[in-house]
Amino acid sequence: MKPVRFGFIGCGLMGRELATASLRWPHLLGDLPRPVIVAACDTSEENLTWFRKIPTVHAFYRDYRELLQNPEIEAVYCALPHALHAQVYRDIILSGKHLLGEKPFGMDLSAFETIQSAMQQRPDVFVRCSSEFPYYPAVQQIVRWFQAGAFGQVIETRFAIKHSSDMDLKKPINWKRQRDKNGDYGCMGDLGIHTQHLPFRLGLLPHMVGAQLANLVKTRPGPNGAPVPCETWDNAILSCEGHDQNGDVFPMVFEMKRMAPGCTNTVEYEIDGINLSARFTTDDPNAVYFTQSMGQKQAWTRLVVGQAPLFPVITGGIFEFGFSDSILQMLAAFTSELRGLPCAFPCFTPDEAHKSHLLLTAALQSYNEKRMVPLSLD
Ligand SMILES: NC(=O)c1ccc[n+]([C@@H]2O[C@H](COP(=O)([O-])OP(=O)(O)OC[C@H]3O[C@@H](n4cnc5c(N)ncnc54)[C@H](O)[C@@H]3O)[C@@H](O)[C@H]2O)c1
Repeated sequence: MKPVRFGFIGCGLMGRELATASLRWPHLLGDLPRPVIVAACDTSEENLTWFRKIPTVHAFYRDYRELLQNPEIEAVYCALPHALHAQVYRDIILSGKHLLGEKPFGMDLSAFETIQSAMQQRPDVFVRCSSEFPYYPAVQQIVRWFQAGAFGQVIETRFAIKHSSDMDLKKPINWKRQRDKNGDYGCMGDLGIHTQHLPFRLGLLPHMVGAQLANLVKTRPGPNGAPVPCETWDNAILSCEGHDQNGDVFPMVFEMKRMAPGCTNTVEYEIDGINLSARFTTDDPNAVYFTQSMGQKQAWTRLVVGQAPLFPVITGGIFEFGFSDSILQMLAAFTSELRGLPCAFPCFTPDEAHKSHLLLTAALQSYNEKRMVPLSLD
């Protein structure tokens, strides 16, 4: 299968994570289109230099426009601060290179619309947004149960991601905590898509949102240690009215928190239904919890799923699955779909990113106006 030659723009935390996943390709069984990273771009010399560890990278750039002129590159993975998404994603798409962009896929709705307009000009370019958590095998089990209709009428749903590193009040400021670089969404922009990929894909959509937003830490140590403003939202709870494709209506909660005691990058999904309820947490990544009914009673059961991902791997089924495995699966989903191969659970689509922006924009409106805001995501 013809490899996909990638250029990476943004060689920070996520750039490095996807770069090493590309080197693990033999881990996947089957002849899947291999991502080969040939070029890297970053304004930080230190982060760019790290990419010398990736043996396939032979071109290094400080200006992404020069990378886009490299004819060897077929696709770009772009992981930059949110304020740069609109311009850089637009330029990537207009250069004719396929794009795996990072969330939130534009700092706000108008930035997304800039990217959307570039996609309309280049419909031949394949565009997806990075989102890896649905690739945990336990989450895929929930997907299969849902698609088989096992849940029955939905009672309630909850999708959460919770960090706690910001509980350290001495943690220095960075671009993710600055409004001009991270945007008005605050934690919702950083974390929102992790809570939305699964429900949006299953057709569980909010049609009314009431947002509770909290800026809990107002200053953080700046570059010289003195406090500087930290203006972004730390925690968000979106209480929504959701509906599904059967027309059933139910409460739907999204939680995005940077200040959640005891969490690291804890992702939690729960769908409760009349016939079946199921939940997943990255704190117990090997298992899915589901209810079994005994007459009128229900009991929660823990089913160990093991290593049973969407794209089969060499790892034995008894071994646990982890974060870097989910990144490998997401990359496989991207390159497979790009080459027109079957992909049972594609990466987050631009249409879903549009829904995400409509939800988060309505959440800001809800908080500012102190009311529930209706939405139309169908
Ligand atoms: N999918 C996930 O789980 C996940 C996790 C964390 C972050 N992200 C997303 O990834 C993106 C990047 O986040 P990160 O955590 O990797 O940030 P980071 O700060 O670690 O990396 C960003 C990199 O961009 C570089 N950069 C800044 N301006 C540049 C420019 N003009 N040209 C080239 N390089 C430039 C910086 O030097 C840095 O190396 C964001 O969109 C973020 O939301 C996704």
